[in-house]
Amino acid sequence: MELIGIGVGPGDPDLLTVAAVRELSHAGRIFVPVMATDVAGRAEAVVRAHLTHNRLERLVFALNDDVAGSQRRRHDCWDAAAARVVAHLREHGGSAAFATLGDPSVYSTFGYLAKTIRELLPDIRIRTVPGITAMQAAASAAGLTLVEGSEPLTLLPLTRDLAALDEALAGGGAVVAYKGGRRLVQLRERIAAAGALDRAWCAEHIGTPDERITRLAETDSAAYLSTVVVLPPRSSRGAQL
Ligand SMILES: C[S@@+](CC[C@H](N)C(=O)[O-])C[C@H]1O[C@@H](n2cnc3c(N)ncnc32)[C@H](O)[C@@H]1O
Repeated sequence: MELIGIGVGPGDPDLLTVAAVRELSHAGRIFVPVMATDVAGRAEAVVRAHLTHNRLERLVFALNDDVAGSQRRRHDCWDAAAARVVAHLREHGGSAAFATLGDPSVYSTFGYLAKTIRELLPDIRIRTVPGITAMQAAASAAGLTLVEGSEPLTLLPLTRDLAALDEALAGGGAVVAYKGGRRLVQLRERIAAAGALDRAWCAEHIGTPDERITRLAETDSAAYLSTVVVLPPRSSRGAQL
């Protein structure tokens, strides 16, 4: 029995890897994360653009719940989803794939799901197929070089306080912030205070028809699916080598 976490990229079906398409076409069942069973999610849309079979099943997760509140619903969803995947594998054997936006190793539901499934099926083989992250897609869509020479890169989720953001900005490297949509104005203020507003972009719904790339200085609100990129200060070519 095997569980495969498949990164499906940021949302554009063209950004699904050849390896992912191959795994998806062979998987006994493809589970996709959704917020409600009657609404297709982004990962499902990408997968469906390539599928020639219909072995697809939705699993509900509390994808958008605020981390400041109770985490009960989130944990209940992980448990129910893991129980469903395990039931499928016990009945049919073979492989089950889980499609996740971006890459499965980067702030993905797959990590929690795989851990729970491993507890229920200790001998299961678990592997992943990497996907293009929102960070990479944001840099590409905005036409940015994320890091050069010795510049460090910090990727952080803005779900709790913004102290980590201040620290990363003070570090002088590139900073990429996920999950900052709900707090965009606060985020913009902190980036302005660090003197980096003229080096900051906001990339929303990358890889979808709703894609929007703006200068953060000119952005007042953003969706949950938005990524903020702040470039390091750069002087002459190669100065940061
Ligand atoms: C749970 S994380 C998933 C990250 C994903 N596994 C990756 O590798 O990029 C969700 C966050 O990723 C970012 N994100 C994911 N897809 C995006 C997209 N299409 N456009 C902009 N940001 C996106 C947003 O910051 C969002 O809040």
